[in-house]
Amino acid sequence: MDELLQLTAHLERPSASRLSNWKAPAVFSLAHFVAHPAIGAQPLEISWSPATEGKPLESNDIHVWAFRLDVSPSSQAQFAAVLSAEERERADQFHFVHHRNRFIAGRGWLRVLLGRYLRISPEQIQFAYGSQGKPALGNQPHRGLHFNLAHSDMIALAAVTWAGPLGVDVEGVRELADMDELVERFFCAREKTIFKKLSHEQKRLAFFNLWTRKEAWLKATGQGISQYLNRVEVSFVSGEKASLLSLPDGSQSAGDWSLHELNPAPGFAAALAVLSKQTRLFCWQWRENLLLPEV
Ligand SMILES: CC(C)(COP(=O)(O)OP(=O)(O)OC[C@H]1O[C@@H](n2cnc3c(N)ncnc32)[C@H](O)[C@@H]1OP(=O)(O)O)[C@@H](O)C(=O)NCCC(=O)NCCS
Repeated sequence: MDELLQLTAHLERPSASRLSNWKAPAVFSLAHFVAHPAIGAQPLEISWSPATEGKPLESNDIHVWAFRLDVSPSSQAQFAAVLSAEERERADQFHFVHHRNRFIAGRGWLRVLLGRYLRISPEQIQFAYGSQGKPALGNQPHRGLHFNLAHSDMIALAAVTWAGPLGVDVEGVRELADMDELVERFFCAREKTIFKKLSHEQKRLAFFNLWTRKEAWLKATGQGISQYLNRVEVSFVSGEKASLLSLPDGSQSAGDWSLHELNPAPGFAAALAVLSKQTRLFCWQWRENLLLPEV
């Protein structure tokens, strides 16, 4: 952990989504301990199709939605209007307006989405938070609906299921000056050995596969990334099926979980972990000018 903290010297400010829990110095995400050059030399193009008709969420289904956070001013105002007082307060803590707007769009959209599944208005959603900040549904009787949100630059992903706790992560695949050092210091022995044999070009995607797959599991359990990074072992080489190979002592067996690679847009790596087997995954994009289908 000390080594991680040393890497925080040149970091960007923590987002307001974490300020409520923030005790400096701490490590919260990849974005906080590596330089974060502008993601996406290419414009963001979400690969998933918009949903054309309502698809009920069956017990083993997982619905994953991708959404652009750079919404129009009118959508931005609508999203801001559905936030709770606490969320507005968190939004106001952002230093940069584009970070503030992305937080509002992400939270507002999450509320709209969950409201559709629960057939309640977005404002009625009550979030309860785990010890490490994971939001869950506080409203009775909706607690059985599991969800998780992730964002990177302009893209947000939200996953929803009845099947079990889940976590999702997305990262822009980019050049990192510290990549070899980060792998060497924080990943498992087997991962380091395989990683060293890859070409520079292969390493970039492999690193973000590693990161997003580990973080998806850590988010599913509600833990942060401040521990266990080197005790969650995952497959990560391009072309290899995403799988959890071993988990920290005291966790459920890796065989109880499913890990999925997601490909929401060119230039992004993403993953989803869920405490359930035999799940069916459906991925769509939501465009702000399209209504969400009834579910
Ligand atoms: C959770 C965590 C891994 C997310 O990092 P990230 O890559 O920057 O962010 P992502 O885009 O993947 O996900 C952010 C979203 O995950 C959700 N989230 C927050 N904390 C979470 C947690 N512990 N587990 C799962 N999901 C979490 C939130 O919906 C958040 O979005 P929002 O606040 O904008 O609504 C990171 O913030 C972390 O490690 N948090 C732990 C906090 C911590 O260490 N606390 C110390 C005690 S105070």
